[in-house]
Amino acid sequence: MQAGIYIHIPFCIKKCIYCDFYSIPNRENDIERFTNALICEIESTDLSSIKEWRFTTIYFGGGTPSLLEQPYLDKILNALHRTFNLSDVTEITIEANPGEAPLQRLKAYRNLGINRLSIGFQTFQPDLLRFLSRIHTAEDCFSTFANAEKARFTNINVDMIFNIPKQTADIWRDDLKTAIQLNPTHISAYSLTVERGTPLHQQVVTHSVHMPDEDTDIRMFTETREILQNAGYSAYEISNFAKPGFECRHNLGYWKLQPYLGFGPSSHSYDLKRRCWKYSSLDTYLKALEKNESTVEGNEVITENDRFNELVFNGLRMKQGINLHQLSEWFSGDFENYLEKVSLKWKELTIQNNYLMLTEEGTLLADEIAADLFITD
Ligand SMILES: C[S@@+](CC[C@H](N)C(=O)[O-])C[C@H]1O[C@@H](n2cnc3c(N)ncnc32)[C@H](O)[C@@H]1O
Ligand code: SF4
Repeated sequence: MQAGIYIHIPFCIKKCIYCDFYSIPNRENDIERFTNALICEIESTDLSSIKEWRFTTIYFGGGTPSLLEQPYLDKILNALHRTFNLSDVTEITIEANPGEAPLQRLKAYRNLGINRLSIGFQTFQPDLLRFLSRIHTAEDCFSTFANAEKARFTNINVDMIFNIPKQTADIWRDDLKTAIQLNPTHISAYSLTVERGTPLHQQVVTHSVHMPDEDTDIRMFTETREILQNAGYSAYEISNFAKPGFECRHNLGYWKLQPYLGFGPSSHSYDLKRRCWKYSSLDTYLKALEKNESTVEGNEVITENDRFNELVFNGLRMKQGINLHQLSEWFSGDFENYLEKVSLKWKELTIQNNYLMLTEEGTLLADEIAADLFITD
């Protein structure tokens, strides 16, 4: 069974107003302590229940993993090699912030075998970057991208954001075109989500910031798909676009419900039956590991219905859709028959070669249609 490894690096120079991923500023002095704790966590993995797993991808996400200098990543990768059989790993990704990943560090990452870089551009517009409270400039985006190429990264993703207040359709189109001109192998384009508990949420609730209306969001979403597909990027997932052969294997693993192990604060692990998550606090996480205690904060059982619903939700977001024939291998209930019947009422769903998928118009209704196909206990 193919599986992935996710490592969460929680450090950021500054917390962005819209971000609800677990990350904290002003703790770079703890990188060494964190690395040692992370290694203990990796090495204390119970291997008995994952004997059948074949790891194919590793993903360093954050936070800002590119704040870690080569020796720390070297130590972490060594711990992974000591603990797991990584001979089938073909993709190792690291996330980098523009301006926070100097050339020498990128070269060192490449020498460690890291072969995919994901850079969070978001936008090239100074006023929008300022609004998002990003500390980088468009120049930082271009120079970090150029350095990534100089460091011989041949698989580079750039993250872009639309639906930002005061971002017009013209500005977004320009941003997308600029990103395309750089010719990355992968582009992720996300609509800005107002997450509860973030400063952006507070600003929206108190009306000091007005989010674009739904029509604008939909127009930008539709245009994004059009522009990127016309530029040779396959919309292999609703928000993810890749040149042929450059789809993110790690994320495809999540979307196809393959198992994964997560390390680092707030990371999740999934073994098809249960999902567990680690403390979302660096201090609690560090203290637990320094006392040889578990870092698991909680877990939930994934019932067959949950797993089916997750498969539907993720499967519909992928261009390839849901493999109907495979359902009988995965589930005891007759979900193939159920899906074939219930999907008839949606003209935005189609079945091709035994895969159930959304039409292009259907991508706008992905969440609504998925919810309609869900099975409730
Ligand atoms: C959590 S960040 C980590 C990587 C890196 N620190 C960065 O900011 O690019 C990963 C990506 O999540 C996306 N993201 C985070 N919060 C978001 C939000 N509220 N709405 C849309 N996208 C978001 C951004 O595009 C970002 O590039
Ligand atoms: S840099 Fe990335 S991870 Fe850090 S706060 Fe900003 S969006 Fe979140």
